[in-house]
Amino acid sequence: MTNLDLFDNSNNEGEADESAVQVMRSLIDLLNHWEHAYYVLDNPEVPDSEYDRVYCELQDLEALHPTLIQTDSPTQRVGGKPAEGFDQVKHRVPMLSLGNAFEEEDVIAFDRRVKELADLPANAIIDYSVDPKFDGLAISIHYRNGVFQQAITRGDGTVGEDVSANVKTIRSLPLKLKGSKVPEHLEVRGEIFMHKRDFEQMNERQAELGLKVFANPRNAAAGTIRQLDPKIAASRPLRFFCYGAALEREQLRELKSQSAMMKWLGDMGLPVSQFSQTAQGAQGLLAFYREVGENRSALPFEIDGVVYKVDSFDLQDQLGFVAKAPRFAVAHKFPPDEVLSRLLNIEVQVGRTGSITPVAKLEPVKVGGVVVSSATLHNLDEIQRKDLRVGDQVLVRRAGDVIPEVLPFPGNVRSASSVAFDMPAHCPICNSLVRQEEGESAYRCTGGLVCKAQLTQSIIHFAHRRAIDIEGLGSKLVEVLVEKEWVKTPADLFRLKFEDLVQLERMGEKSANNLLDSIQKARQTTFGRFLFALGIRHVGEATARDLAQHFGDVQKLMCASVDQLLEVNEVGPVVAKSIRQFFDEPANQQVVNELLELEVTWPQAHTHEMPSDHPFFGKTFVLTGSLSNYSRDAAAALIIERGGKVSGSVSKKTDFVLAGEAAGSKLDKAASLGVTVLDELTFQGML
Ligand code: IVH
Repeated sequence: MTNLDLFDNSNNEGEADESAVQVMRSLIDLLNHWEHAYYVLDNPEVPDSEYDRVYCELQDLEALHPTLIQTDSPTQRVGGKPAEGFDQVKHRVPMLSLGNAFEEEDVIAFDRRVKELADLPANAIIDYSVDPKFDGLAISIHYRNGVFQQAITRGDGTVGEDVSANVKTIRSLPLKLKGSKVPEHLEVRGEIFMHKRDFEQMNERQAELGLKVFANPRNAAAGTIRQLDPKIAASRPLRFFCYGAALEREQLRELKSQSAMMKWLGDMGLPVSQFSQTAQGAQGLLAFYREVGENRSALPFEIDGVVYKVDSFDLQDQLGFVAKAPRFAVAHKFPPDEVLSRLLNIEVQVGRTGSITPVAKLEPVKVGGVVVSSATLHNLDEIQRKDLRVGDQVLVRRAGDVIPEVLPFPGNVRSASSVAFDMPAHCPICNSLVRQEEGESAYRCTGGLVCKAQLTQSIIHFAHRRAIDIEGLGSKLVEVLVEKEWVKTPADLFRLKFEDLVQLERMGEKSANNLLDSIQKARQTTFGRFLFALGIRHVGEATARDLAQHFGDVQKLMCASVDQLLEVNEVGPVVAKSIRQFFDEPANQQVVNELLELEVTWPQAHTHEMPSDHPFFGKTFVLTGSLSNYSRDAAAALIIERGGKVSGSVSKKTDFVLAGEAAGSKLDKAASLGVTVLDELTFQGML
């Protein structure tokens, strides 16, 4: 039974509605709190499965009461149907751009000009608010009474597009602001972007599915925000950082400075970069530039410089604007990471699933502090779109530690004899036929595990830290093991012998023993890791975990029908079909069985990652009256965290009524139905 059962048999609709809303609110507040901890503070408070469970409970309740759905419910992040197009909206306050500084002298001149315009002595030290310049797309977000209302792109600075449905899907963006200082209307300004790693994973997935791959995280973020179907945005890893707000006069007077405003925004739950801080004078600005520059490649997202803003609002006001940029702020850009090179050859690489990826072999160049001599060209479409040919002069771009990108050089002079690249008809490794699958842009080697390239990549994937996790089994060693034909399937890893391993070059007795120890340790794994390690197409880490949790048992999974697979969270027809195909393959069945025979094991999973022996587990509570140590929401959260449910009205199905001070009619109802009543002290004891 769930929270909602009780609303069905109530004969007083108004009361039931009120109770439903109350329960919805406590679930929403709990979920929003968890999302903030996860996406903004990077500090998850509960396992994903627990989040999902409460989310589903809310969804069920909302399905029963569609008219009562709250606008800030996390289920509303993906709301309506695809749009026909975006509405044009005029910005209340124009969205300006920034002047640029490239050299130290430009920064010193900026600081000098600020002092001159403000009639301050040349030796005055100005306070600045400084932050990274996020490389994404600018967005303006309106909150009405603390609830997300509308998101508008920058557009031409005066008129932008209403992309609310897409922006709502961004998990680091609160749909409701928190705290007691939330204004009636707030227009937040910030940047939408993607983490570099998320971007790469997303691109890999796109390539796997034969869909568009994006050149860099900024393009991916911008391309996603302009999708008409919000489901696409919801499925992509967008993030948001806030760097300002278009404040009303009154608010400017009260807050006094950019830095105070940033703190206020952060306090309301808006994500603000940890790097945002204050700096004093031109020297302070330059020190910040160097500090951020040194940390640039370690940051999870791309930045293309830093931004300096005069901190005091009064002073900002005095300085005013030129053309379309404020005089009180400047962007100090990092030098571009783009260098001229030559495309010496285009080779192909064979991946784990047989996908054939063209790779550019380049005249080695130093870009972004690293020597680059090869770079992926993603797929044939990409090469044709960029019109690249062997022998061409090309630009190599590398931003931070993102994979280098090869771009056509506009000044290239092409030799008349150059030929366009085409995909090989046969795999360069195993000579099997290369085929383009229907509806996909990717080409694949049809050799399966006969192909040593596919086998090597499969074994590397299998042994990966996030899969079966065999420490010390690097890609070079896997290549050797495959080449020697000691490893023909993942199961063979568990048959490796000390006598063989020690014969390998650069493998002493100690390393051989260490490797065998790691292999021994890897035998004890989890069901989710095991499934992920198998390398089933379209089954990533999260899907593997979902499958493991749903089926709990490998035999059950292996014989599950497509329909049964479709019952799993996030598993759609493409994934279900791929899983079914994988297990229909006798060779794959054999590998699974051999792995089990070779004693690869995992603990039997519980359906939920929580102690099922807790006295609250599976029990339904009704709260009434006021408690002295907890708000109602907090008490509800504690119950839900322990696997219990909270309902709005008392019925035969209620297990406990938690009664505080001034408890009302619910207490009488509990007495008449013989439901156990807990006082706060007993409740605390049971917690
Ligand atoms: S402040 C008056 N701060 O850079 C404009 N902008 O040329 C105030 N950007 O498209 C903008 N990071 O989206 C500011 N920390 C930051 C920023 C930032 C990125 C973008 C912004 C705008 C462009 C300004």
